[in-house]
Amino acid sequence: METLKFLTPEQAEALRAQFGTPLYVYDERTLKAQAQKALAFPNAFGLTVRYAMKASSNGALLQIFARCGLHIDASSGYECHRAMRAGIAPDKISLSTQELPADFSELYERGIQFNACSLSQLARFAELFPERELGIRFNPGIGSGGTVKTNVGGPASSFGIWHEWLDEVKAIVAKANLRVLRIHTHIGSGSDPAVWQHVAHLSLKMVREFSDATTLNLGGGFKVGRMNYEQTTDLQEIGEPVRDALEKLHAETGRKIHLEIEPGTYLMANSCALVTTIQDIVHTGADGYHFLKLDAGMTELLRPSLYASQHPIVVLPRRRTDKFLPYVVVGHCCESGDLLTPAPEHHDVLHTRELPEVSIGDLCVIEGVGAYCSSMPAKNYNSFPESPEVLLRESGELALIRRRQTLEQIVQNEISLAE
Ligand SMILES: Cc1ncc(COP(=O)(O)O)c(C=O)c1O
Repeated sequence: METLKFLTPEQAEALRAQFGTPLYVYDERTLKAQAQKALAFPNAFGLTVRYAMKASSNGALLQIFARCGLHIDASSGYECHRAMRAGIAPDKISLSTQELPADFSELYERGIQFNACSLSQLARFAELFPERELGIRFNPGIGSGGTVKTNVGGPASSFGIWHEWLDEVKAIVAKANLRVLRIHTHIGSGSDPAVWQHVAHLSLKMVREFSDATTLNLGGGFKVGRMNYEQTTDLQEIGEPVRDALEKLHAETGRKIHLEIEPGTYLMANSCALVTTIQDIVHTGADGYHFLKLDAGMTELLRPSLYASQHPIVVLPRRRTDKFLPYVVVGHCCESGDLLTPAPEHHDVLHTRELPEVSIGDLCVIEGVGAYCSSMPAKNYNSFPESPEVLLRESGELALIRRRQTLEQIVQNEISLAE
């Protein structure tokens, strides 16, 4: 049976009393511990750890990581601005984006580092900034992710410049006299460690192709066990061969390559819990199911509906019981896809969890929701407001870091038709 990762049942109850549910609760202690583990990633000639802020973008979280010494990986111009608003210096932000921001020139001039992620991005950069410095994100030809949707390498992925277009890249670089300082790859979230390592070596081969390159960025993708039966990547184990390879390159060429990693999931996944209330229980007869309906759902946690992600679910019955029932846990949206217990690998197939028998009004905590949950919801679907975020400080204090959205805020940009 899954258990609470950092909250106690009493704390969960106190959180509900103070802030209401649904509510995201982040654990500062876990955030810092994960940051320290990432900062210990094996390296030969220096390491920069960037937090992939798309995983969860609240400025307070960015500030915690910044104080630990982490830099930022941003995925859009908006994320760059958001990070700067949180006080992150532009030269600590690196942008790898699917869409060049309209104010790209301004961002670059402010010091944001840039990785060109397509040939057209590279060509546009060359036109805007001849003779200047940039990184290049390659698609190394293979990828690996926890699911097909989180695999972002290989021919079925549009992320990065296909590795075979090296001549085209070199031609653009030479024509504009660009300085390629960074080679970047990121092959997916929840990658197989063996594939990740293989790609690290392919990426190092790319470094050999660009004599100006001083930095190798290997992206994120480190698998994290949310469920009891899932494994977490050992960063020391996968990092050591990379360090050896960097040392070998140095021995052969004299080049001291700085290493960057940019985890999102690894830092965040188990650092947050979603505290919810069971607001209804429905039974669909002898051939049916026992459904638990939460006061949260795809509006807080879209990953199960999107790619059948599995999250620990811990119910806290107020009435003591030894009885367990096979429950299907669903969200509050009028949408059959709002399913929190999909079958592994099948987001649209109902799956049951054996949970203690519960009643309406009991608490239900969903664990492992720190990465790609609060930042990737079906926001405002059914007009449910965005949920608040609270930080459990190391001191035990609770700090509200995002308020619950109001109805007014949901509709604030709508314009009524004149009569
Ligand atoms: C370029 C880049 N770097 C880093 C990450 C972080 O990945 P993860 O959360 O799997 O560590 C992502 C996630 O999609 C990404 O696109």
